[in-house]
Amino acid sequence: PFYEVHEVVVPHLGRVPITKGDFHALPKKVQKFIAFYVDYMTPRGIYICDGSEHEAHEVITKLMERGTLERLEALENCYICRTDPADVARVESKTFIVTKDKYQTIPHSKPGAKGGMGLWMDPDEMKIEMDSRFKDCMAGRMMYVIPFSMGPIGSDLSKIGIQLTDSNYVLLCMRLMTRVSPKVLDILGDQDFVKCVHSMGCPRPWRRKVINHWPCNPEKVLLAHFPEERKVKSYGSGYGGNSLLGKKCFALRIASNIARDEGWLAEHMLIMGVTNPKGQEFYIAAAFPSACGKTNMAMLNPSLPGWKVRCVGDDIAWMKFNEKGELRAINPEYGFFGVAPGTNWKTNPNAMASFQKNAIFTNVAKRADGMYFWEGLEDELPDDMEVTTWLGQKWKKGQPGLTSHPNSRFTAPASQCPIIHDKWEDPAGVPISAIVFGGRRPTGVPLVFEAFSWEHGVMVGAAVKSESTAAAEFKGKSIMHDPMAMRPFMGYNFGHYLDHWLSMNKPGRKLPKIYHVNWFRVNEKGKFLWPGYGDNIRVIDWMCKRLSGEAKVVPSPIGNLPEKGAIDISGIEDQVHWDELFSLPKDYWLEDAKETRQFLEVEVGDDLPAEIEKQLVEQEKRIAAM
Ligand code: PEP
Ligand code: MN
Ligand code: NA
Repeated sequence: PFYEVHEVVVPHLGRVPITKGDFHALPKKVQKFIAFYVDYMTPRGIYICDGSEHEAHEVITKLMERGTLERLEALENCYICRTDPADVARVESKTFIVTKDKYQTIPHSKPGAKGGMGLWMDPDEMKIEMDSRFKDCMAGRMMYVIPFSMGPIGSDLSKIGIQLTDSNYVLLCMRLMTRVSPKVLDILGDQDFVKCVHSMGCPRPWRRKVINHWPCNPEKVLLAHFPEERKVKSYGSGYGGNSLLGKKCFALRIASNIARDEGWLAEHMLIMGVTNPKGQEFYIAAAFPSACGKTNMAMLNPSLPGWKVRCVGDDIAWMKFNEKGELRAINPEYGFFGVAPGTNWKTNPNAMASFQKNAIFTNVAKRADGMYFWEGLEDELPDDMEVTTWLGQKWKKGQPGLTSHPNSRFTAPASQCPIIHDKWEDPAGVPISAIVFGGRRPTGVPLVFEAFSWEHGVMVGAAVKSESTAAAEFKGKSIMHDPMAMRPFMGYNFGHYLDHWLSMNKPGRKLPKIYHVNWFRVNEKGKFLWPGYGDNIRVIDWMCKRLSGEAKVVPSPIGNLPEKGAIDISGIEDQVHWDELFSLPKDYWLEDAKETRQFLEVEVGDDLPAEIEKQLVEQEKRIAAM
């Protein structure tokens, strides 16, 4: 054999072969972790991943033989995967935070609370749920051990995790989304790590019908986060947000707990560097709910001459004030896991360029010539070319129906993005000057406004709302609260989270300015009032002028607005109606303020910081006086 075979002896199973890797060379804590879960989940073998190309090749070959992956012949080293159609999105209703004290996880809410800000389960109850799933859940299957770093390997801002999984598709995606390397283990030594345990939940012999060579267990999906133990367990699903545990589970839910303990921020934010025509560079972090275009903004192709945008990250930011009082941010991820539909050479050429090789496409369609296809790529599709939809049906241009799942995804190495920032792996991170919140707000909310202060900005972030998306299991369109774009990813009591944000305002710190943007306002005919995409640079241009003290503002009840004409709309004057784009209908804002208060009062209840309450009162007064 290529690899020497060793074994691990565990009480339950006896001798378990090690198909790859040297178990005894692992740090002792890692050995203990593996041995415990081998005994509990009883896999047929252990495969210790080294992140090498050889390993990727071996896994891809196996997945293609089984039929889980299909090559995209038109591209180099690209593959398409169709999942069981029942396993296509995050499952918030089965995603729990487990703490002894309930109120560590969820706020002391008021009667009538919907409780959308994280689900709590008691440890004893969860243990029963977990045992009924994870005991022997890897019987007859290989267990992959994935050592990974969130953030540049060895950076002070980075954190290490070990994921156990019985899915080699998950291994393949983890290699793209995190830094998988034996170096991680060298750096780890005897320190603690974030424990990630994942199973598709299909031990052999398996009686349920396997659909699309995608064994999973949708009826039994369960995700549990144990913040005190820095541990995540995920069962039954192979979909990204449920299975690539470095991403939402670790880098947001667990990391936000670590961040609170250590005094930093783990946020659902893109990071971008923007350089103006004078050559000055500013770094911006922006939080939008899922499917509001974070990836598009992170890779924006500026329509104004002389501007340069470079991407540091498109989904998650870890940010910490350094000794000079600068807020330094890293992207803890290594790749992009982006929504495919709508992505094309016009909307996001830089994302497109990122996935022309070494990428995995999940639940998209495939053209007869071996190219990917999804809604939004019609212009490139020859009229008579046949397409196989994500459900395996034949389709041609002009026919009804969707070819790809609305939450279908591309997974690609960030390093392949043509505008990836040369500092994207800088262990010291990049200094953030502005934080931007936003959402899909069809009516009432202006293109941009600036918070009056850090505290007001935290309230603005807490009040973020957006039209719901395909990324989670929700159906239909409705405006949902998504504070700080963290609602699905909240790792602890949201009231405490707001306290933590407020506590960032300490003497000697250069606090970023806070903005709110809305690219999605429509007129009474439902037409977008702002062209968006590359033209969003015009709003960024204005923000940068504010940062360098060149632009004035007009105060409004909800924040500072740009002076009329202060945003450069040269070349798009005919599309942009300033007064409509910036109007603040009093009725709308009276209603909005009432609704926001209701939401925060009921959901966060007694845990709502007094400072936020004060900000709400002041804003209500300003709106009433409109
Ligand atoms: C995910 O669902 O795995 C994910 C990355 O989510 P989103 O795009 O909604 O942030
Ligand atoms: Mn996201
Ligand atoms: Na999602």
